[in-house]
Amino acid sequence: MSRKPIMAGNWKMYKTPAETHAFFEAFKPLVRDAEHCEIIICPPFPNLHAAVEETKGSNITIGAQNLHWGREGAVTGEVSGHMLQAVGCSSVIIAHSERRQYFGETEPDVVRKAQAALEYGLTPIVCVGERLEEREGNRTEAVLGEQFDGGLAPLTPEQFAKLVIAYEPVWAIGTGKTATPEMAADAHRFIRARAAAKFGDALARGVRILYGGSVKPDNVKKLMAEEDIDGALVGGASLDPVTFAAVVKY
Ligand code: PGA
Repeated sequence: MSRKPIMAGNWKMYKTPAETHAFFEAFKPLVRDAEHCEIIICPPFPNLHAAVEETKGSNITIGAQNLHWGREGAVTGEVSGHMLQAVGCSSVIIAHSERRQYFGETEPDVVRKAQAALEYGLTPIVCVGERLEEREGNRTEAVLGEQFDGGLAPLTPEQFAKLVIAYEPVWAIGTGKTATPEMAADAHRFIRARAAAKFGDALARGVRILYGGSVKPDNVKKLMAEEDIDGALVGGASLDPVTFAAVVKY
C-alpha cells in the first residue's frame, strides 16, 4: 500500500498572527506545486484562525498542537476539538514530548484526546518516543511498546485507521542531533510491527509514521528514503518559509 507522505510543521510557542500572515505569504508560492505530500502547519491557538484563512484553497491544511477531550465546560485555559473543528483545523498533535515532559501528559490522555479529536473530524498526530537515558539503557523498544499499548492499542481499529503516528526521540528534539535514518527506521518498523500485532497487517501497512527530531533540509532526503518513514514532524526548521519549503520538497 502506498502511503502519501506528510510534512508537518510544529510551530510550538512561536509567531504572532502578523508573523503567521508573513510566513504564508512567502511559503504558499514556494510549495504550490508540491503534490507528492500533504502539508500541515500547526501554529499556536491564537494564530489558527489567521492560518486557516491564509491557506484556504491551497494545498496546506492547519493543525493544532493540543486539545482537551471535552466539548465545552468550566475548564480554564483549555481548548476543545469542537472549537478546533469550528475554526477550520484538520488535525491536532497529541502528547508531544514537551506536553508529556512539562505538563504530565500520559497514555490515558492520549486515548481520550485521540478519541475526542476523531469525534470532531480531526486527524490525531500522536507522538511517541524515548528519552536519552532510555535509549542509552537499551529501553527504546520497551518504551515505544508501552506508549503504543497504553495510548494506541485501546483505540478501535476504525479509530486507529484514521490517525497518524509521529516517532520523535526526545533526545533529538531541538538539539540538532538527528536519529540516523537507520535508527529511525528501526523504531518505525518496531511501531508498525506492534500495530500489525494489534490491528492486523492491512491497518499497520496503512498507518503513516512520521519522524521528528531536528529534521532539516540537509537530512530530510535520507530519512525519507527509508521505506517505513512516511514524513516528518518539524519544529525549528518549520518556522522559516524558505527552509520549510526545502524540507517539503526534499
Ligand atoms: P525540532 O522539533 O525539529 O525543532 O527538533 C521537532 C518537534 O518537536 O516536533
